[in-house]
Amino acid sequence: METNKKAEIIATVDLITDVIEGNRRFAFVFGDCLKVLSQMPDESIDCVITSPPYWKMREYEVNENHYNTLIGVENDPKDYVDHLVEIFNHVKRVLKSDGSLWLNIGDKFFNKNLMGMPWRVALEMQDKGWVLRGDIIWDQMKGTQSAKDRMRDVYEHIFHFVKTRNYYFDGEAIKIKPTKNAVITDTKTISATGVSGVKYREYIINSDSLNEKEKENAINALDDVLNKVRNGELVDFRMTIRGQQRTYHSESTKVSGRAKELEDKGYFFIMMKSSGFLPSDIWRIVPEDKWRKDSHCAVFPEDLLFTPIKSTSRNDGIVLDPFSGTGSTVAAALKLGRRGIGIDLSENYIKVSENRIKSSSNGIYQLLF
Ligand SMILES: C[S@@+](CC[C@H](N)C(=O)[O-])C[C@H]1O[C@@H](n2cnc3c(N)ncnc32)[C@H](O)[C@@H]1O
Repeated sequence: METNKKAEIIATVDLITDVIEGNRRFAFVFGDCLKVLSQMPDESIDCVITSPPYWKMREYEVNENHYNTLIGVENDPKDYVDHLVEIFNHVKRVLKSDGSLWLNIGDKFFNKNLMGMPWRVALEMQDKGWVLRGDIIWDQMKGTQSAKDRMRDVYEHIFHFVKTRNYYFDGEAIKIKPTKNAVITDTKTISATGVSGVKYREYIINSDSLNEKEKENAINALDDVLNKVRNGELVDFRMTIRGQQRTYHSESTKVSGRAKELEDKGYFFIMMKSSGFLPSDIWRIVPEDKWRKDSHCAVFPEDLLFTPIKSTSRNDGIVLDPFSGTGSTVAAALKLGRRGIGIDLSENYIKVSENRIKSSSNGIYQLLF
């Protein structure tokens, strides 16, 4: 029995080594991710995207022999946090020093009390040395009406963790390009949302808050920005002028750089470049329900995976999901020319994942074995 177990682990490590060395494009491994991760080499993975079972939310299709290693069934929320943090310690070791971890995690009401589970995990991970670079709010748009005496649940967190401050991030790969262009005629320059600068010019000329020198500088700066719109460098802009509008965050010059600019110069600009802008930290993506018919698994929609994969893994890099369920992360990684490793405690999900890749109608996968 012991010998068989050893053989299983060696087989698992071989599969993973093959992916790391580039002899295979992907591997799905059946087992407790804590054990499998502990067999993996240091700093071998570029990006991890995962969604562990939420505390006391669902039951997964695992053999009862594995029930003690199943995540999410712990009675005490603290045990759940400790269990996850231990697993993510291993993730940290296998992740390259410039790698990223994207952790999707949902909350839970217990005795009518919202537990704040995502933040309990995130704060503990920070204490263990992870750097938290972002908290994406995944707005699932539909939401469920699970109680009559509070609002509908509609979002989950996706935390972006890194190991060091100098991590790999390809912002160009995910930039959103403006859908509208500025309108340029012989006599007019109008930004993508209809700003021509006429009103700003009037405000400046009639301002009681700007002195003559400041007015001259503000008009020149406005002309410069309009020229940038004209030559295609900017698609849009907004100007804030002292005495006309409030600053955005704070009027304190100690707290807000913009308030300071307003005090020093009398104006500031917000400019939108034609080269595009990064997505915000609210992602509106409807959850995947195609697979829910056949399994209990809360499946990642592909759109949710493309942004992390494109921005935090290089072409041909390796993306790992230690709670891979139906294999969505690996499938999306392969689609984008990365390699993928999935680990799951359910033998059935491993089979579902392998079949998902093999039977994909998108011919690309056929070449990858
Ligand atoms: C929320 S689902 C992941 C769904 C996945 N994101 C997808 O798109 O299909 C969580 C998965 O974690 C697995 N799991 C639970 N405890 C585990 C453990 N200790 N090691 C590995 N997998 C585990 C469950 O079997 C389940 O498939």
